[in-house]
Amino acid sequence: MQRLSFGVALALLALASGAPRAQAPAVTVPQVTIEADKPGPAIAPTMYGIFFEDINFAADGGLYPEKVKNRSFEFPEALMGWKKSANADAQGEFAVRSDRPPSPGNPHYVRVTSKAGSYGITNDGFRSVSVEAGKRYVVRMLARRVSGTAGLSVGIENARMEESGSATIASVPAEWGVVTATITPPVTNTRARFRVRLEGPGAVDLDMVSLMPADTWKGRPNGLRADLVQLLADLKPGFLRFPGGCIVEGRYLETRYEWKKTIGVPADRTTIINRWNDEFGHRQAADYFQSFGLGFYEYFQLSEDIGAEPLPIVNCGMACQFNTNELVPVDQLDPYLQDALDLIEFANGPVTSVWGKRRADMGHPAPFNLKFIGVGNEQWGPQYVERYAVFHKTLKAKHPEITLIASAGPSPNGDRFDFLWGKMRELGADIVDEHYYMPPAWFLSNANRYDKYPRTGPKVFAGEYAAHENVPQARQDRPNSLNAALAEAAFMTGLERNADVVPLASYAPLLAHVDAWQWSPNLIWFDNLRSVATPSYYVQQLFGQHKGTTVLPATVSGLPASGIEGVFATASRDAATGDVIVKQVNPGPQAREVKLALNGVAPGAGGRRIVLTGDPAAENSLQRPTIIVPREEAIAQIAAGHVERLGPHSLTILRVPAGGGAGRASPSR
Ligand code: AHR
Repeated sequence: MQRLSFGVALALLALASGAPRAQAPAVTVPQVTIEADKPGPAIAPTMYGIFFEDINFAADGGLYPEKVKNRSFEFPEALMGWKKSANADAQGEFAVRSDRPPSPGNPHYVRVTSKAGSYGITNDGFRSVSVEAGKRYVVRMLARRVSGTAGLSVGIENARMEESGSATIASVPAEWGVVTATITPPVTNTRARFRVRLEGPGAVDLDMVSLMPADTWKGRPNGLRADLVQLLADLKPGFLRFPGGCIVEGRYLETRYEWKKTIGVPADRTTIINRWNDEFGHRQAADYFQSFGLGFYEYFQLSEDIGAEPLPIVNCGMACQFNTNELVPVDQLDPYLQDALDLIEFANGPVTSVWGKRRADMGHPAPFNLKFIGVGNEQWGPQYVERYAVFHKTLKAKHPEITLIASAGPSPNGDRFDFLWGKMRELGADIVDEHYYMPPAWFLSNANRYDKYPRTGPKVFAGEYAAHENVPQARQDRPNSLNAALAEAAFMTGLERNADVVPLASYAPLLAHVDAWQWSPNLIWFDNLRSVATPSYYVQQLFGQHKGTTVLPATVSGLPASGIEGVFATASRDAATGDVIVKQVNPGPQAREVKLALNGVAPGAGGRRIVLTGDPAAENSLQRPTIIVPREEAIAQIAAGHVERLGPHSLTILRVPAGGGAGRASPSR
């Protein structure tokens, strides 16, 4: 387009100046050629997946929509989040205790004693408690009557103690038992608190004090937040990686992720500190802990719900090397190996096996069909290699059916990276996990990264990536701009073109609470009631929904389609529909016109064009969630000589029905 305008401008100039009529310079429109009759490698169904880590309040107060913070009184500051709630003439006291708790896993609870009036405690929630008018919220607590016969009153209130809905619990059992109530707030309140009070003299012990929406994903009690899971499902993800990320490693081995402590009855799941609590001095979150209400059973269930392969990462006897580098001696790895073996049994074992029975007891007798395990997260160095080798030997001997993923460390290149790749080739790792949080320009210049990778040996899991815009030092967050998203899209054309090398890829991190994040950018932002998809989300979604099943060779002006004439392109064939799918990214500021040559197919009528474009600096927000969203239109027919205009800063996906046999919509070859 730029050339065309330039050519027209020259001609106009010649006319205006009275100069003898010269021939306008020939305008060459680059040609994108798709060889639809020369199918390349298969695109793995897993190709585009999800990376979940409990960072940025992604779990408690996020995907796990608990509204009560420190519900089990296990934070080191045991009353963090809790305050007195009392009407004017009320008297009483409350204190944390640990004698005869309901679960040894969470040994603390609170005793509330009311001497007069309506007296109790109130919880701040996760950066406040937010409720929507007319929606139902379920209160569930473990309670034990100590004295008196007063019932409990539970409610949502603002700082002035004005109610936004309440309910009563008529009686409390003499021994620990579950009490419940449902609150339906008549008004929406985004800055509320949750309170529990005794309505008369007496004392009660309370633990696992919970307030959760009734309308969860699939309506499951204590289930996941429906709007967030819907966003995940809409990605059509090939896999779900969990639980991270550095959280797998822990700052210390003691606080590493131990999956066995995250299953079973929620009250028995021991709360621990979240490693992102104080990782970044400028983004501390002293109240960030893990209740494990979202635990391994829920991760497997979520994977199944959204049609994603579960992809757990296990600790390999190493705490985070950026923090402590605590190591388990190589000859003492057995408990860690056993955890991995038991995990396979938990996921896949028969109900007659120890861990298969635990799964069945939790409500899922059928296996979860686990196929992948990652050994360690971002580990590096000889210490990782020797530990990985032990895991590899044991797991391959006992479970050759499981694909093992090894680390390439935290950087996309360099000595550590090269060392690990060399060792992982020697050890015969199935897949190596590469991470890159780099500027947009890196993604553009690395769109051909995998064109050059060996075709034998371990494959690649692009396990964590995101384009990080350069920002002034004073700015804490990095924008989720369209510019960053298009750089990721350009890079992803290279992933897809090299589907024989890259069977798995996931943007990271996934979720972030707007009032409580530690890391940015992220794929999805949310507050206590709303959520918003970023431009990067839409790139992931479009690639996931239009991935196709087989790569088709694509070139621009006869060259690999990786930035030639400013265009990044990839093409595929979708076996289910027969469609040829062409993805073209124009990250630059000038529109580009390209001739489309579809060799080997006869394009049918009724195609679709999906475009993601806009101001490159634009971001979506909770207030303005649709500034950058994909727009779709019908295409009548792709004719021979078809010229596609790729707008500035755009991703364009064409779906061309090509179910019939060979043909040619090709202006030239
Ligand atoms: O995605 C955030 C962090 O980035 C992950 O926990 C870690 O693996 C990487 O360094």
